[in-house]
Amino acid sequence: MTIRKIARMGHPVLSLRAAPIADPAQPELRRLVEDMIETMVDASGAGLAAPQVHESLRVVVFQAPASRSDPGLAQSEAFDHTAPLTVLINPFIEVMDQSREGGWEGCLSVPGLRGWVERPAHIRYRGIGLDGKPIERIARGFHARVVQHECDHLDGILYPQRMNDLTKLIFESEIKHWIQPDEG
Ligand code: NI
Repeated sequence: MTIRKIARMGHPVLSLRAAPIADPAQPELRRLVEDMIETMVDASGAGLAAPQVHESLRVVVFQAPASRSDPGLAQSEAFDHTAPLTVLINPFIEVMDQSREGGWEGCLSVPGLRGWVERPAHIRYRGIGLDGKPIERIARGFHARVVQHECDHLDGILYPQRMNDLTKLIFESEIKHWIQPDEG
């Protein structure tokens, strides 16, 4: 496994619509996913999409602890890497209802910043696992946010493009001014 270089905001690969994966069983894909997981863990991310490691393909990995609720990322970058890891190939998201929730997001491709992003709070997602079997799950809270954030990468969208109030695009060192000490 190899830790890969992470593309940063402004690199054209992050703006592309990524290509669907025709054969989830190909060995190159397995290697890519192993590298993505190692890169995500090394960088203390909750998720990573293939375009972030310069591969314009529709695959994401993420770890979303079931217990973790929005409003998402707080002061600490200490993600729980013992949480269930999901590899999702050719994902598709369906919004279950119109309720939206705000949360702080960060992105390994936008280092040092946080942004307040409102997203649908209740989704269903489908895709294919690395074993070729279909995945279908209902997600809420942090889980729903991570999946939407990662899948946005596959359509060339970074979280600042989802923000409707850019006064809430801040340096992570300043988040202490926005979050109560007992949160997160
Ligand atoms: Ni991201």
